[in-house]
Amino acid sequence: APAVPVDPASLPPFASEPDTNPALPANQEWARAALAQSAEPGWLDALPVPPPGDRASPPGDRASPPGDRAQSRSSLDRTVATARAAAAQWAARPAAERAAILYRAADLLSRRRGHLIAVAAAEAGKSIAESDPEVSEAVDFARYYAHRALELERVRGADFTPDRLIVVTPPWNFPIAIPTGGTVAALAAGAAVILKPAGPVPRCAQVILEALWEAGVPRAVCVGVYPDEGPAGEQLLRHPGVDRVLLTGASETAALFAAWRPGRPVNAETSGKNALIVTPSADRDLAIADLVHSAFGHAGQKCSAASLGILVGSVHDSARFRRQLVDAASSLVVDWPVDAAAAVGPLTEEPTDKLFRALTTLEPGERWLLRPQRLDDTGRLWSPGIKDGVAPGSLFHRTEVFGPVLGLMRAHDLDEALALQNGTDFGLTAGLHSRDLREVRTWLDGAQAGNLYVNRGITGAIVGRQPFGGWKGSSAGLGSKAGGPNYLMLMGTWSDAPAAA
Ligand code: SER
Repeated sequence: APAVPVDPASLPPFASEPDTNPALPANQEWARAALAQSAEPGWLDALPVPPPGDRASPPGDRASPPGDRAQSRSSLDRTVATARAAAAQWAARPAAERAAILYRAADLLSRRRGHLIAVAAAEAGKSIAESDPEVSEAVDFARYYAHRALELERVRGADFTPDRLIVVTPPWNFPIAIPTGGTVAALAAGAAVILKPAGPVPRCAQVILEALWEAGVPRAVCVGVYPDEGPAGEQLLRHPGVDRVLLTGASETAALFAAWRPGRPVNAETSGKNALIVTPSADRDLAIADLVHSAFGHAGQKCSAASLGILVGSVHDSARFRRQLVDAASSLVVDWPVDAAAAVGPLTEEPTDKLFRALTTLEPGERWLLRPQRLDDTGRLWSPGIKDGVAPGSLFHRTEVFGPVLGLMRAHDLDEALALQNGTDFGLTAGLHSRDLREVRTWLDGAQAGNLYVNRGITGAIVGRQPFGGWKGSSAGLGSKAGGPNYLMLMGTWSDAPAAA
């Protein structure tokens, strides 16, 4: 590992990690090589899964033998007790030491970009266009929270006591950035972490954990636990030694976790039903590119994805706009295993009933502009679909589908568009494409979502610049946003309420 300064004054200033420039031939070459490797039969299964001492029960993935539940419970108790004991020393170290370790971990993750991309392609079917920015985001989280740890110590030192042990439960759709983000936030604040990766993506988590250990995070302070579904996961989350749970996942999961932990913290970023509004003043080419990327990137499997396009007046009525939108979506290369040309890969898991219905049926008033096609026998590879005529209050208007379907709605004016955009129980991301400043102001005042984007796609929040988190049904006990200045303040208790910002 490179020498990283421990003196906080000489910690490099935070700067966003650049994504790979796909125009450079050298980059194309290594990306192709990484993806080709990931597609080789047996490559993924040959990667290390967590050693037995580092997990409470075996992972629920295909390479692992079935577990012994009774043994799991005592092993879980031991893991929790060890992590809590180690946390005291971790928290006692100067923030500058923790920050330096996190900077070193960021460098290691950055150097393992190709490997992470390959693992995410093999485990989750992520295209390089989606996983490459995820690696950058993971690197950013580690460096950004390193700086926030210094700040927390300097400004709030005596008032803040970090939690002893935080369980981080990330989703499977961002298997690199989100596990890293939660884990490094908790570590930066001085807590120990149990990372419980989502079922389909344990090896991405393992790469992250190895980078953290190699950088100097003690193994007892940061543990991967891979309980299979069912009682083992519940035991972990109910465990009295777990001070806090950081969840990114479905709203139903947040409700379940909260029920398992009455009166104890669960900070959850949850589901979304996100819309991008396009008004007649918009740059239509830009709007189409952003709609398509926001709707179909990673096959729409993002809590931040655009599931609705709300087209105002003449935008909706323009046959040319609709044709170009359909053309753009049809031009996406959908393939699996993902190669360097693939824009969209498979669904990580077989479609849920809700998604299957959205991919195959229409509600009253709807018609397909582009009908999704099932492209292989697994049921996981689908071409993008676009439906017009989504009715206000319909199931598609109000519910998250988490897949490659975009629904279009017509609004007479911006006020109606806003009412439709706000007319769901969720409030995660929202977008507006408009070049009229009055419209932009009206929209910014009225849109009910945590992340508002103007003339930009609505996925891919940048750490430090676009802190990420929703309101209404898109968050439960979140309090402050990931990748934002106050996120670390969630990770502990206060002897005095922090001063209002
Ligand atoms: N942070 C991601 C995004 O902005 C979602 O989790 O797309």
